Amino acid sequence: MIVVTGVSGALGGAILGGLRAMSGVEVSGASRSGDGTATRQADFDRPETLARAFAGAGVLVFVSAGYAEDDVVLARHGAVVRAAAEAGVRHVIYASLAGSGERLTIALAHRWTEARLAEAPFHVTVLRNALYAEVAAGMALAGAGQAAATGVFAAPLGEGRMRVVAREDLAAVAVRVAAEAWHDLDTGAPRRHAGRTYELEGRVAVGGHDLAEVLTGAVGRPVAYRPMPLGEIRPMLAGMEPYQAGHTVSMYSNVAAGLPAAPHSDLPAFVDSRRPVLDVIAAAVRAGVR
Ligand SMILES: NC(=O)c1ccc[n+]([C@@H]2O[C@H](COP(=O)([O-])OP(=O)(O)OC[C@H]3O[C@@H](n4cnc5c(N)ncnc54)[C@H](OP(=O)(O)O)[C@@H]3O)[C@@H](O)[C@H]2O)c1
Repeated sequence: MIVVTGVSGALGGAILGGLRAMSGVEVSGASRSGDGTATRQADFDRPETLARAFAGAGVLVFVSAGYAEDDVVLARHGAVVRAAAEAGVRHVIYASLAGSGERLTIALAHRWTEARLAEAPFHVTVLRNALYAEVAAGMALAGAGQAAATGVFAAPLGEGRMRVVAREDLAAVAVRVAAEAWHDLDTGAPRRHAGRTYELEGRVAVGGHDLAEVLTGAVGRPVAYRPMPLGEIRPMLAGMEPYQAGHTVSMYSNVAAGLPAAPHSDLPAFVDSRRPVLDVIAAAVRAGVR
């Protein structure tokens, strides 16, 4: 059986949906709260829930739970790795962060988790996910009110650009890798994904001017991009959890400084990467300004 964590979230939910749509695949979803019937409870902050959640899982799709300070995320992810080993899981597929995100604050927890997984007694596949297209859409939406009122989209992105991927594409890769890993376990075939790390980098670079163009279509007036100093974003993040504000500043700062170039992307080997990422961003922005 395949167990997928974080299924109340967008990525885990899409992975679970994709696996359920496949014939001949046995799959269960797990979420922090569980629903008592179709979904198992896997609360990473309560390690005592994890033995039951992972029982009978040959393959575990481990979706990170990164919305917290690093020490909390490390404790969560460490508990998942230990519980998976104790439950006898044979293959863990971890949703990590792409190499182009190496300097983001969130990279620390992902790389720490990869190291713990590498020491564990099961097969591992690391899916290094690039920034979601939906993250870029969120940046545009943060400036949508001002763009509608003034025709200016101000953001601290400088002239930097980020290579983003539609979250749906990342889910599609996880579905395929999980189904194939499960098939290989079930049939005793060579484990084609064991010990592999896939860099799922985006191939379309998006910057402030692109987001202004998207906003032009969404707010019904011409919008121009204006780079703003990083310091000006901080007061605008006042309502966020402190760790979230830190991650957000780190993201803008990294993009403005130029994210490290990705040497290659494994994405095209799995999905048709010509999917128009700007359309995905535009749809998310239109939905958000409605
Ligand atoms: N590559 C990127 O651009 C990017 C962007 C954002 C996030 N991420 C990472 O990718 C993950 C999945 O993304 P997403 O879009 O699906 O995020 P999402 O929609 O916000 O879902 C996050 C999931 O994590 C679960 N979770 C949080 N704390 C947990 C805990 N203590 N124990 C178990 N589950 C917990 C949430 O459960 P509840 O519903 O119960 O809260 C939810 O199912 C995120 O958690 C984050 O680590 C990546």
